[in-house]
Amino acid sequence: EQITIHFNLNGKDVTVSADPNKRLVDFLREDMGMTSVKEGCGEGECGACTIIYNGKAVTSCLMLAVQCGYCTPGMVLSAKALLDKKPDATNEEIKRAMSGNLCRCTGYAKIIEAVETARD
Ligand code: FES
Repeated sequence: EQITIHFNLNGKDVTVSADPNKRLVDFLREDMGMTSVKEGCGEGECGACTIIYNGKAVTSCLMLAVQCGYCTPGMVLSAKALLDKKPDATNEEIKRAMSGNLCRCTGYAKIIEAVETARD
């Protein structure tokens, strides 16, 4: 199943339909024609597939074409545990409480914002 995604690719705003289960390295090479992105190990070890994603260098062989949602249940429970105990947690406390949950899509800013919204 394809979904529509919007993003900025090297300075150009792009809207395309994409398979959310496709690895980002494959999406960029096959769908976007960005063959400058290279796959080496395919396991996040060699760095050949590195891209800059929201200002951070990330390995595109470990990411899916869209935010994958794999971390969401764990994130939600960490947020619930914090807000049950401390409904008025500060932004700093929220960041600390969520720091044990990893997101391989590096979507941390939006996740933290969502917990702040839930608190407010
Ligand atoms: Fe080696 Fe992605 S291909 S880290």
